Amino acid sequence: MSATTTPTTTPTMPRPGSGEMFDRIAGRYDLLNRLMSFGLDQAWRRKLCRLVEAPEGARLLDLATGTADVALMLSRVWPSSSVVGSDPSAGMLEVGREKVARGGLSARITLELGDAQALPFADASFDGVTMAFGIRNVPDRVAALREMHRVTRPGGRVGVLELAEPDNPFARLHVHHIVPRLGAFISGAKEYRYLQTSIEAFPPPDAFCELMRAAGFVRTDVHRLAFGAAHIFVGTV
Ligand SMILES: C[S@@+](CC[C@H](N)C(=O)[O-])C[C@H]1O[C@@H](n2cnc3c(N)ncnc32)[C@H](O)[C@@H]1O
Repeated sequence: MSATTTPTTTPTMPRPGSGEMFDRIAGRYDLLNRLMSFGLDQAWRRKLCRLVEAPEGARLLDLATGTADVALMLSRVWPSSSVVGSDPSAGMLEVGREKVARGGLSARITLELGDAQALPFADASFDGVTMAFGIRNVPDRVAALREMHRVTRPGGRVGVLELAEPDNPFARLHVHHIVPRLGAFISGAKEYRYLQTSIEAFPPPDAFCELMRAAGFVRTDVHRLAFGAAHIFVGTV
């Protein structure tokens, strides 16, 4: 399968990766996440943040930061760190900025518009990079992985959390039938059908690790979560 495979879209559906699709659902995104994953999403994000193993005073980057759940968690798991969150959806960032301000973390977390495929940061300028539920939306995944590798210092870690086709029949029923209906019902949008098709189109763990190695990572590890419903990929630069 090509690394640049893009999910099927309809003429009314914004191009994945443009940020526009997420602008439409930004206001209900957090609620939907918690409901659809039975609250597991936050435990997965926490594990992702820990796996980055940031040093004291680390400078961290969270890509596809959306409503800033991972950026907030990074700042709590690594209390001496500063975090930059980047995302192409202004609507998601707006929700994120409110959360950062409410948490009193505006001095440590900066959120800015950006596309993971072309980052405006210097080489080796971060101690670690995270991306949760974002790489599936990026049209050129290898370009994004190369950028993550480029902006991370040698020895630093990049953690990518992503959903997958689960093995368990109940988990499959949940992903294929309950999630799209619940998403459409609560958000009033058809975007949650895209979730299902994009999960199906995502490469299996071994193939994704191959992409990471092609992007330059010297070591890759995979952590399987909830019957294979999600994985955390950790690449060392
Ligand atoms: C499912 S949300 C994940 C948000 C957040 N990381 C979380 O844990 O909830 C996917 C995010 O990917 C962003 N996105 C889409 N295309 C992108 C791209 N090319 N580069 C970076 N982020 C992108 C969307 O705007 C959206 O906020």
